[in-house]
Amino acid sequence: MILITGAAGFIGSAIAHSLNNLGFKTLTIDNFSTGYRSNLPKNTILIEGDCGDPETISQLQNYNVDTILHFAGQSSGEVSFNDPLADQKSNTTSTLLLLNYAKLKGIRKFIYASSMSVYGDHENLPVTEESVTMPKSLYAVGKLASEHYLNIYSNSDLKVVSLRLFNVYGPGQNLANLKQGMLSIYLAQALKDGQIKVKGSLERFRDLVYIDDVVEVVSLLVTTDLSNPYSVYNVANAYPVKVKEMITSIKAVLGNISVKEIEGTQGDQFGIFGSNYSLMKDFGWKPKIKHITGIKKMIAWAQNQR
Ligand SMILES: NC(=O)c1ccc[n+]([C@@H]2O[C@H](COP(=O)([O-])OP(=O)(O)OC[C@H]3O[C@@H](n4cnc5c(N)ncnc54)[C@H](O)[C@@H]3O)[C@@H](O)[C@H]2O)c1
Repeated sequence: MILITGAAGFIGSAIAHSLNNLGFKTLTIDNFSTGYRSNLPKNTILIEGDCGDPETISQLQNYNVDTILHFAGQSSGEVSFNDPLADQKSNTTSTLLLLNYAKLKGIRKFIYASSMSVYGDHENLPVTEESVTMPKSLYAVGKLASEHYLNIYSNSDLKVVSLRLFNVYGPGQNLANLKQGMLSIYLAQALKDGQIKVKGSLERFRDLVYIDDVVEVVSLLVTTDLSNPYSVYNVANAYPVKVKEMITSIKAVLGNISVKEIEGTQGDQFGIFGSNYSLMKDFGWKPKIKHITGIKKMIAWAQNQR
């Protein structure tokens, strides 16, 4: 059985649906802080609770889990500054508790949703997995701490992978969450108010990676024997998209949307994109969806939600 934490959320639910379709039995832990019950696949077993609580993790004793995909977590840099301890519990304590459980139960594989935020700002782009990590937000510090815990716990019996996800976007993203997901925030604002409020410069840029491509990476990792005890991979499209280009793509479909520039967010990176060479080399993975196509698909989905 596969434990996918956060399967009521954007990425976790897409993974859970895909693995269920492949015939895997799935179990999730979710506290519904940002996720929705309706996102859960019907046959995924639910433990409702916080992954940072030992009592929640102890409920896993009742199940025969062999793989853990840890995707639950507070996912906003901005929110991490508002409540650092809650962020630490959600993103770091949770990892440690799950690792202790994994060690106790002889779990074979652990895949972790880390983040490109661990890199901070770099002049030499794209960043590779060997680039120096310089977290700028408390959220990024927590993700990096989790990576180090994972590395220390990993061994030839417990194979671990940290995925440094770049900006994941696509259908299913939470349009009510205006604290996480650059593109989804702009799209939600455009649809609701006809105005996009940009926190920081229009010249900032991100590496947009489409949800289906991320799901494909996770499926590959779940179904392939891993050779290294511990690995880190960028999950990136490997090219930058400026904020102003994202807005142009939204305007191209939705028409005339006004743009207001407001003060930036503490700990926000200016611009980043990642190399995806390692995932290509080791697993033959290549992202299929470029942002122009992906943004159109996402807007079509969002318009249907209204
Ligand atoms: N979306 C991105 O672009 C992106 C980029 C880098 C990393 N990540 C990471 O990927 C993971 C999933 O992100 P997402 O975009 O799907 O976010 P999301 O908010 O849509 O999903 C997170 C899910 O986890 C649940 N959750 C949050 N904290 C929890 C806790 N302490 N205990 C139990 N459940 C909890 C939420 O209710 C939600 O269902 C997160 O760990 C996030 O940090 C996301």
